[in-house]
Amino acid sequence: MFKLTNKSAIITGGGSGIGKAMAVLFAKQGAEVHIIELNSDAAAETVNEITAFGGKAFGHACDVSKQAQVVETMNKIGKIDILVNNAGIAHIGRADNTSEADFDRIYNVNIKGVYNCLFAAIPLMKANNGGVILNTASIAASVGIVDRFAYSTSKGAIHAMTLSVARDYLHEGIRCNSISPARVHTPFVDGFIAKNYAGKEAEIFEKLSKSQPIGRMGQPEEVAALALYLCSDEAGFITGTDYPIDGGFITLNN
Ligand SMILES: NC(=O)c1ccc[n+]([C@@H]2O[C@H](COP(=O)([O-])OP(=O)(O)OC[C@H]3O[C@@H](n4cnc5c(N)ncnc54)[C@H](O)[C@@H]3O)[C@@H](O)[C@H]2O)c1
Repeated sequence: MFKLTNKSAIITGGGSGIGKAMAVLFAKQGAEVHIIELNSDAAAETVNEITAFGGKAFGHACDVSKQAQVVETMNKIGKIDILVNNAGIAHIGRADNTSEADFDRIYNVNIKGVYNCLFAAIPLMKANNGGVILNTASIAASVGIVDRFAYSTSKGAIHAMTLSVARDYLHEGIRCNSISPARVHTPFVDGFIAKNYAGKEAEIFEKLSKSQPIGRMGQPEEVAALALYLCSDEAGFITGTDYPIDGGFITLNN
C-alpha cells in the first residue's frame, strides 16, 4: 500500500524538518522527488540522503515567493503528480507589534508562495489528467494561539485556498487537502526558540512539548506518514479536508 511508483512529487522546503522527512519517505515509496528550496545546500543534503539508498531526487534552487522562478522551475520539471506546499516561515508577534515588513515577509512566503506553486503546478497537473495537492496549514489556523498574529493569519489562508482549489478542480482529477500539525520538533522550532527565548531554551522547549496534551512534540516522520497517505492513490476519496496531526492540541486542551 501507499506506493508512489512512477509519480513525480514536488516538495517545497524539502531541505529541512517536515519537508525533508516527506521527501525521504516519498522517495522510499518510489516517487521521483523534486525539492524546491531557498537553501540549495540543504536541498542537496536531502538529495544525497535519498540517492544513497537508491531513490530518485533532484534539488531546485527557487524562492517560492517569486512567481517567475516558480513557473520556470515547475515547467522544467514538466510532469507533476504530487505537489506538497510545505515551505513556510514563522513569526512571533501581535497585531499591534507586527511590523509591516514582517507581515509582508510572512505573507510573501506562507500565502503568496503557496499561490505561486498552485498557479504553476495546476496547468501541468491538468495536462497530466490530474494530481494531488497537499498544503501545510497549522493548528494556529484553528485555535487562538498567543503571539502568532501574522503566522496564524497566513495559515488560515491555507484552509481557504485548500477549499477553493479542491472545489475548482473536482472534475479535473485534482484532489487538494491540508494538514495542521501542532508543534513538531524541527529546526524551525529550534530556530525560533533560540531567536526569541535566548537563555531559556530548555524551559521553553519543555513548555512547548507539554502544550500538546499527549505530552511531547511530534516527529517530522509522523507528519510525513500522514502526508504519504493523503498523497497516495489509497486516499482517492479524500478532498477538501484539513487533517490535524496534533497530539490532541485542538480537541483535548481543556
Ligand atoms: N515545526 C512545527 O512545529 C510546525 C507546526 C505547524 C506547521 N508547521 C509548518 O510546516 C512547514 C514546515 O515546517 P518545518 O518545521 O519543517 O520548517 P523548517 O524551517 O525546518 O523547514 C522549512 C524549509 O523551507 C525552506 N524555505 C523557507 N522559505 C522558503 C522560500 N521562500 N522558498 C523556498 N523554500 C523556503 C527553508 O529553507 C527550510 O528548508 C511550514 O509551513 C510550517 O509553517 C510547522
